[in-house]
Amino acid sequence: MQGRGWRGIAAGLFAGAVVFLSVASASAANRWGADYFPNVPLTTQEGATVHLYDDLLKGKSVAINVMYTSCKDECPLETARLAQVQRLLGERMGKDIFFYSITIDPKRDKPEVLKAYADKYGVGPGWLFLTGREEAIKLATKKLGLSRVRDSASKDGHTASLMVGNEPAGLWMRNSAVDNPQFLATTIGNFLGWKDTTPKKSYAEARPLVLDKGEYFFQSQCSVCHSIGQGNKMGPDLAGVTARRDRAWLTRYITAPDKMLAEGDPIATALFEKYQYARMPNLRLSSDEVAAVLSYVEGRGAAPREPVRRDSVTTR
Ligand code: HEC
Repeated sequence: MQGRGWRGIAAGLFAGAVVFLSVASASAANRWGADYFPNVPLTTQEGATVHLYDDLLKGKSVAINVMYTSCKDECPLETARLAQVQRLLGERMGKDIFFYSITIDPKRDKPEVLKAYADKYGVGPGWLFLTGREEAIKLATKKLGLSRVRDSASKDGHTASLMVGNEPAGLWMRNSAVDNPQFLATTIGNFLGWKDTTPKKSYAEARPLVLDKGEYFFQSQCSVCHSIGQGNKMGPDLAGVTARRDRAWLTRYITAPDKMLAEGDPIATALFEKYQYARMPNLRLSSDEVAAVLSYVEGRGAAPREPVRRDSVTTR
């Protein structure tokens, strides 16, 4: 992390697409700890009673989404994607990270129902499906920044969010739960500060069939934060960036933005100051991948503006 530390965002708690919550310094009291999260009881798919803070969050790194088993639209995709992420994370599951899927339909989703659902998706160790009393679930999802999802889900516009958190450090980030699994696994690993987050074999398996490599990398790894010609998202609009900036600088920056920031590169520093709520991640792209994504951005910069369709290049 930068010496300057993470920025606390009091009002915008969990509001953005990728939001980093923070404490003033590592030694300061964690605002997103026992005083913040309710210790409500929930029931796992095995029928065990667990408490949200004491058993599920305290001292752990976690990834949490909401779902319901009868959902026909986003949830199956979401669960399938998370099942792939689970496979990519391999042995870290249940040790370095825990997944929790909380049902927002507790009346129907009894433990046995959740158990059958979890089995269907090949859910392994370290991933719990949780149900409970209506009020407990409401409170838990609200405090986890997932209640917006619940509200819209009942009106059938389900937005699939995945909250990733490192409870002891007080760091939380929102992701789309239906992103490319490799991207999610890498993002989770980067966020939690793991070394070596990309098992090569699974990576190959997770590669979708698309024609243009640059487009694939852009859609799967960049488009969550950047558009090309449709305005700023979490990061700056990249239209024209290849004309605006030196190619060697861009290549270095996309390869290791964290390093350039640490070295005090003036442009990286200025961008970092400007885009306060997100941070350009080091996605560990190879030089070929960086070159491919840059030529895609360059080509798109001059092209007519069309809406970006992320799902057209996602994996199965
Ligand atoms: C998690 C969000 C996120 C992702 C994913 C991401 N970026 Fe960024 N990017 C940012 C932010 C935020 C900035 C502004 C600098 C900062 O705050 O660190 C930035 C800055 C940049 C810049 C500098 C723009 C300029 O005006 O000079 C480039 C180029 C860039 N990103 C390219 C990429 C590419 C290519 C990818 C995919 C391989 C990517 N980014 C993925 C968030 C992201």
